[in-house]
Amino acid sequence: MKKLIVLLVAIGLPVSGYAGGGSNEHVVHAPINMDDKASLQKGAQIFVNNCLGCHSAQYMRYERVSDDLEIPADIMLDNLVFTTDKIGDVMISSIPKDLAKKWFGTAPPDLTLEARIRGADWLYSYLISFYEDESRPWGVNNHVFKDVGMPHVLQNMQDSMSEKDFNTNMADLTNYMVYMAEPIRAERERLGYWVIGFLIILLIPVYMLNREYWKDVH
Ligand code: HEC
Repeated sequence: MKKLIVLLVAIGLPVSGYAGGGSNEHVVHAPINMDDKASLQKGAQIFVNNCLGCHSAQYMRYERVSDDLEIPADIMLDNLVFTTDKIGDVMISSIPKDLAKKWFGTAPPDLTLEARIRGADWLYSYLISFYEDESRPWGVNNHVFKDVGMPHVLQNMQDSMSEKDFNTNMADLTNYMVYMAEPIRAERERLGYWVIGFLIILLIPVYMLNREYWKDVH
């Protein structure tokens, strides 16, 4: 028994360390809800308007976003697709990789799977953790990503609204990026409820069958 507990703890340890995004005190819980379509739509809008300029999401197609988030194709094309005119295309940034590397020191990485790599909490915390730092090339630094090469691209947005509203917007953006990293997740969770419902219903005949079998034994 003791061995089993030790084993379980050992298996669990690296996972929790990873999911927590390290021990950084600035990493806070991301208040996201994948069932909130309005939040996901807002997040998609913030993403294409502010992030796709430098980052790609090369494993995601506009069309899938439009279908999953219930954004009509024409509205999607007119308002959220800037880098192409085909809704079936993947979300590729228009910035040339080598130029970006020259400008920022590091090429902006693809963000399709970012939420899965870093975790939602880290991502949300990163987005709300830029601070002024004159010693850095862009005059900003980040509490959860020390000496980051990314400028604070949402500074105007942050300065234009209350902290609460900005955090809500960043939660929407995080929500969208969590969806993007695993588009099937909401569907899987829904399926999970059906499966559990099915098992509960199955329990009734199983219980009755069990009684039937044991009826004559006593
Ligand atoms: C002006 C170009 C530019 C824009 C616009 C931009 N980024 Fe970045 N971003 C970068 C660069 C460059 C890096 C690499 C920084 C480094 O490694 O030091 C980066 C890094 C990141 C990282 C960390 C990646 C990792 O795990 O190492 C995240 C997350 C991120 N960006 C998210 C975003 C989001 C979300 C947006 C939109 C709100 C955005 N970025 C807009 C240039 C940009």
